[in-house]
Amino acid sequence: MNQKILLTGITGQVGQELQQTLTTLGEVIGVGRQELDLSQPAEIRRRIAEIKPNIIVNAAAYTAVDKSENEPEMAMAINAQAPTAIAQAAEEIGATLLHISTDYVFNGQNHTPYLETDPTAPLGVYGQSKLLGEAGVQDNCDRHIILRTAWVYGSRGHGNFVKTMLKLGAAKEELRVVADQIGSPTWSYDIAVFITQLLAKSLNDPRIKGIYHFTNSGVASWYDLAVATFAEARQVGFPLKIKRVLPIATDDFPTLTQRPAYSVLSKAKIVATLEDYPPYWRESLRTMLSEWHSISIKDEKKLHKLISNNQQQLSRKQ
Ligand SMILES: NC(=O)c1ccc[n+]([C@@H]2O[C@H](COP(=O)([O-])OP(=O)(O)OC[C@H]3O[C@@H](n4cnc5c(N)ncnc54)[C@H](OP(=O)(O)O)[C@@H]3O)[C@@H](O)[C@H]2O)c1
Repeated sequence: MNQKILLTGITGQVGQELQQTLTTLGEVIGVGRQELDLSQPAEIRRRIAEIKPNIIVNAAAYTAVDKSENEPEMAMAINAQAPTAIAQAAEEIGATLLHISTDYVFNGQNHTPYLETDPTAPLGVYGQSKLLGEAGVQDNCDRHIILRTAWVYGSRGHGNFVKTMLKLGAAKEELRVVADQIGSPTWSYDIAVFITQLLAKSLNDPRIKGIYHFTNSGVASWYDLAVATFAEARQVGFPLKIKRVLPIATDDFPTLTQRPAYSVLSKAKIVATLEDYPPYWRESLRTMLSEWHSISIKDEKKLHKLISNNQQQLSRKQ
């Protein structure tokens, strides 16, 4: 099982978790923007040829959905051209490429969970760029796995809906949250665990390739996720001011990019492949919040200890 794995996006929500879970498969060479800027395709090919990994996991992406409408060239460079260059380089050295994609490749008009084979129809630049990235991977690298996920949150890496709610809930008594978009909130750690399992199994089973959908189980609206976040966060001791969360319609909260109204992905294929079922979203939310809270308390205690040690040292010197 001793694989050489090149991982991109190590400062991101999913990338940070993968950096831990992938170590069960071998040596992980994690690269951030400093080490490998994905807006430079020639550099991508040069670095991959130099490192010669057996597995490449591309967890990097341009994820600013609304901003992508004003920066389409950058979104296309990172989400479409870079995965294409990674796929070409992977093919040249015979590596397996696992690439992460999104529910935003769909238009959200379904009423039952999206299958991997359902027609795509992105609603904005971000979704279009991710769909082109999928095509670049499929067309250029035979040994590829594309994992589409949705509604990602986690304690590590960049901001997300749960973090935003906690920040707002600590400062405000009332919030209005969209209640007519439905999806499956998904913990970045669970994504990393399932990606690692899928890669482990693919090492002995070449039939594991192509597109897989993965999210946590169950469905919720953003409003449900906000209410659950506050309830679970209170349970573990996050200080919150929030008293009321009011459901609103998407039309009451206009954004630059139209979001899919229904974003639920079918997990049937990945469940059948791994014989494992994704945890229920609220269970994962609870675990993440309680872990995050205990880490912040430890950090706070460490900080207090550091401050008091420094103060003692200072007073000794005086
Ligand atoms: N977040 C969601 O709700 C969501 C939903 C569906 C699918 N996904 C997909 O899941 C995957 C992981 O998303 P995430 O939430 O973990 O993303 P994230 O937290 O926004 O992290 C994105 C990562 O990409 C890196 N990156 C961006 N531009 C780069 C560049 N030019 N060169 C090198 N690295 C660059 C970032 O580095 P810096 O820290 O330097 O910016 C960061 O490490 C992505 O493919 C995303 O499309 C996400």
